[in-house]
Amino acid sequence: MNPPKRYIITSALPYANGALHLGHLAGAYLPADIFVRFLRLRDKDVVWVCGSDEHGAAITIRAKKEGISPREIIDKYHELNKSTFERLGISFDYYHRTSAPLHHETSQDFFLKLLEKGDQFEVKSSDQLYDEDYDQFLADRYIKGTCPNCGFEEAFGDQCERCGTDLSPTELINPVSMLSGKKPVLKATQHWYFRLDKHEVWLREWIATGQLDGVQHHDPSTWRKHVVGQCLSWLDSGLQSRSITRDLDWGISVPLPEAKGKVLYVWFDAPIGYISSTKQWALENGKNWEDYWKSPDSQLIHFIGKDNIVFHCIIFPAMLHAYGNYNLPVNVPANQFLNFEGQKFSKSRGWGIEQHEYLEEFRDFPNKEDALRYALLRNLPENKDSDFKWDEFVDFHDKELADNLGNFVNRVIVLTQKYYGGVVPALDLDWKDRFIEIRAIVKKLTAELEAFNFKQASQYLMELSAYGNTYLQDVSPWQIVKEDPDSEKVVECMLFCLQVVACLSVLCEPFIPFTSPRIRKLLNLPPVQRGDWNNLWEALEEGRLLTPAGHRIGEPEVLFPKIQDRKDDSRALIIQRQKDKLDDIMNAEKGPEREPFKPEIQYDDFAKLDLRTGTILEAEKVQKADKLLKLTVDLGSEKRTIVSGIALQFEPAALIGKKIVVVANLAPRQLRGITSQGMILLAENEEGKMAFVSAEGDFGNGWGVK
Ligand code: MF3
Ligand code: ZN
Repeated sequence: MNPPKRYIITSALPYANGALHLGHLAGAYLPADIFVRFLRLRDKDVVWVCGSDEHGAAITIRAKKEGISPREIIDKYHELNKSTFERLGISFDYYHRTSAPLHHETSQDFFLKLLEKGDQFEVKSSDQLYDEDYDQFLADRYIKGTCPNCGFEEAFGDQCERCGTDLSPTELINPVSMLSGKKPVLKATQHWYFRLDKHEVWLREWIATGQLDGVQHHDPSTWRKHVVGQCLSWLDSGLQSRSITRDLDWGISVPLPEAKGKVLYVWFDAPIGYISSTKQWALENGKNWEDYWKSPDSQLIHFIGKDNIVFHCIIFPAMLHAYGNYNLPVNVPANQFLNFEGQKFSKSRGWGIEQHEYLEEFRDFPNKEDALRYALLRNLPENKDSDFKWDEFVDFHDKELADNLGNFVNRVIVLTQKYYGGVVPALDLDWKDRFIEIRAIVKKLTAELEAFNFKQASQYLMELSAYGNTYLQDVSPWQIVKEDPDSEKVVECMLFCLQVVACLSVLCEPFIPFTSPRIRKLLNLPPVQRGDWNNLWEALEEGRLLTPAGHRIGEPEVLFPKIQDRKDDSRALIIQRQKDKLDDIMNAEKGPEREPFKPEIQYDDFAKLDLRTGTILEAEKVQKADKLLKLTVDLGSEKRTIVSGIALQFEPAALIGKKIVVVANLAPRQLRGITSQGMILLAENEEGKMAFVSAEGDFGNGWGVK
């Protein structure tokens, strides 16, 4: 495997039906931004594409709910998401949209090309749910019903959001159309299916060994374990053909006369969006998009969240392979999920914070972009789910960005100004050798970036600055200059520290790109440019000082004023407001505290009860008593008559054979002339709705309940 000449990097196209939260940012955008910035600094030929995913039923449903057109929704969120990314320094080369004509053409061409192959598609007719009032087939998301797995009554046709089970709409119990609210009917319809099954063999080999047609394509040990694991378990359950068309009026029309009213399934067209985004970029920049997607010396890398793994590691590669002459991804560094203060992000509960909301609420917070990027980086969910916490956000800012990085940079600038009037002094030394520790840390950092370990890479940034701090403290030039203002030892120390600061100014650019130019300004160096990572390496290897003798540095400035220094700090209030919001949500959900039903009892009180299992053998209404039923109950060793006030809610016939729990030692009572010999346990809610208390599973009559 030769080093690649070009890179095409993709980040999952966000649906344009809503804003993105911090979890999205940490999942597919921040890591890709770091990687791409790193490649640019190494002067690599790289294009990073993304854009809005504007099709799919989620958008039409939202439009229907709000009584506006899908177009209004996608226009709004396309602009919002695009500009929010920009403001956070997410530096896509192109942010396209799947409603663009170029994308429609590209997707239709893809469909027709696969159709032409003859063996990639099959057309199948199946019964699908249809809303007769609306004269329309129902997309999975348009159907709600009871989950056959967990009984959740609001499950969608494609998934139960309570238990996570993947469903098909016909599996739902009591399906209801979200259009008319009525029960849909089944009606035959025709769809095109992609023969994924035909790709199973090579896909398994490619995923498991990295080989394709006997050639080593990539090294599978460089892929994240959870990514390979998810793919293999999917492959193990066998690949089936998947329908890639839908009966829907929003999306890309299936380009066939016999497919009127049908569109391509959103997951068919969306990944093709990476290609059309590259095409549009190439058009505007006088480049050839095919160099990036088809040339053997180009590499394709997909950045995504774990919910998209199968689409990017199995289905889209199969589509590219079926089309022919496309490269397959050399890696898919998918992230796991980021939680928020211990819980899942939830739009409906208001749990979490959206990217644009963060920028808005933190508008008076200096360094808000890098403070956020750094906090996310420190908890990047690379190999397991992780958690974002406001307290940690403050700690990372104060202890790492301020105390470590900011403090070191500031001390070096202040001391250089103080000792040398800001002009770098000269000293002849074997710097190459002197830089050995710096080189070692830069090397480790570079290796982690190449391996997509962004969290670890960012820690080497801190390690370098901590190293500088310790070194400066050990030498303590302020002691030495008291005795000897011209000490060579001090010159050496300051030159070394300036080199570390100059390194940091380059190395931090991928991670905290707003801070990099500020450090450069302190050094009076131009902002970092393409190729500067390479230059830095060269300088270190050649023992060249990045701030050479005679160079005049800038004036000191505190990079990250600490949040916790002042109690009246408006930034601390901003953080507090975020925490208060979460407390409010939790309190609102808890509801008012309930009074205890009854006073506390001791175990002995409870042990006085003789509770036993039984089965209802007979049930009949009690004459002239609306509420009472006379029951005959089998308690194993005996049969009892029990009168119970449940006649309004239960039909006698329905009770025969019911398993119940009885209080067997309740003193007999006379009710309407019948002796009731016990009591049946019932659960009752505030509205008086009743249910029998029964034991779960296999039990016989007369068992003691303890
Ligand atoms: N819109 C999808 C999501 O947010 C991701 C699409 S990724 C692409 O889950 F590959 F299809 F573009
Ligand atoms: Zn369920």
